[in-house]
Amino acid sequence: MPSASVFECTACGQQSSKWLGRCPGCGGWNTVEQVAVEKRARPSAPTAEPVPLTHAELADVGRTPCGIAGFDRVLGGGLVPGSVLLLAGEPGVGKSTLLLQVAASVAAGGRTVLYVSAEESARQVALRARRLGCAEDGILLLAEPLAESVVATAQRVRPALVVVDSVQTMASERVPAVAGTVTQVREVAAQLADLAKRDGPSVVLVGHITKEGLVAGPKSLEHLVDVVLDFAGGTGHPHRTLRATKNRFGPAMELALFAMGDRGLREVDNASAVLLADRRAGAAGSAVAVVLEGTTPLLVEVQALVSRSPLANPRRVAQGVDAGRFALLLAVLEKRAGVRLADRDVFLNVVGGVVVDEPALDAAVAAAVMSSAADRPLPADLAVFGEVGLLGEIRGVSRAEERLREAAALGFTRCALPASAVPAAPAIATLPLETVVDLARLLAL
Ligand code: TYD
Ligand code: MG
Repeated sequence: MPSASVFECTACGQQSSKWLGRCPGCGGWNTVEQVAVEKRARPSAPTAEPVPLTHAELADVGRTPCGIAGFDRVLGGGLVPGSVLLLAGEPGVGKSTLLLQVAASVAAGGRTVLYVSAEESARQVALRARRLGCAEDGILLLAEPLAESVVATAQRVRPALVVVDSVQTMASERVPAVAGTVTQVREVAAQLADLAKRDGPSVVLVGHITKEGLVAGPKSLEHLVDVVLDFAGGTGHPHRTLRATKNRFGPAMELALFAMGDRGLREVDNASAVLLADRRAGAAGSAVAVVLEGTTPLLVEVQALVSRSPLANPRRVAQGVDAGRFALLLAVLEKRAGVRLADRDVFLNVVGGVVVDEPALDAAVAAAVMSSAADRPLPADLAVFGEVGLLGEIRGVSRAEERLREAAALGFTRCALPASAVPAAPAIATLPLETVVDLARLLAL
């Protein structure tokens, strides 16, 4: 096949026809490298016939539960044969552990799993599997970084599931770039996606992301795969959250909470109760929020610490919420509720190591900060939710009734929520909120 040269940025994948010192896509210096590409033969005139939408085959996608309940639920019922899934997370979060447990569960059901480890030796994987009680005969280990060999092996052993750990350490001999570059990661993923479509195994790709989420890989793969699962948490906490951020076959944003122990990951069933277990009720700076994870309401504790700052630029440090959103909320509190924060350090933490990106958390963040600033606790039996707008207004959020029911189930007897979202027959007493000024009143209850 004839070959042509193009140049491609190793950081963002931007292509150009000539070498450039600086990538026009991401602005990185010396990131552009020459890559050879095969000129693929253009397909001739299309032969497929369009079909009316109402007549299209409605064959069931035939999902197969793998037996790890939280994993299956997040997927919308199980793995779909012939589909490609990307499991993205920071190094050390537990991706290999989770997939080894999934592999063992699938193998225990009598199906074959090809577990490709390009990162760890077969011995390392086997040792871990034994420790986790995951050593199943149906798991075939392949320590191999070459995509072509993986495809050939899969065609020979016909597995129901192929796990590739990780896509960044794999390479294809068709591409001269080093492993981990955007070109390689895409080529490897494309070959494995072909394998899934052609031979029907489910393929799971592991993708590392860094704190900045910028490493070549996961982001550039999202359009190539059917499902993207985000695995997050850690840094001193046992809890991990698994979410589908994209799912062509089921619901997105469904959440499962796992705890990492010495025998691997275990799903936490009563997530709200576990996350609130160590709460010191009645302490200033603590607020309980009812957030929605997918369709499931979840209660989380938000803790704030406001203290006098010796610094010219006081510190604003937040864990578990977006830093920009946090800064915005502090500005709204200062301007609209008169909370003095300019010369204060403000620290915030969502307890349990969970990361929340639902705006309904806003009101609890604001209430926790006000509580710490005033050194007055919120009532111990009170939960809070609502989005805070730039004008200080508390805006409505979806599924208020379900949120109130979950709060009631965990023993809360009242809940402050957006006035516009108060349901006709709430499960517990409601305290309607119009603006952030109303949050200050909660401190006097
Ligand atoms: P790992 O699955 O290797 O993470 P990843 O593949 O995402 O890089 O797991 C990483 C951490 O999990 C490691 O620091 C050790 C810890 N761990 C446990 O606490 N218990 C266990 O049973 C296992 C297997 C790992
Ligand atoms: Mg790993």
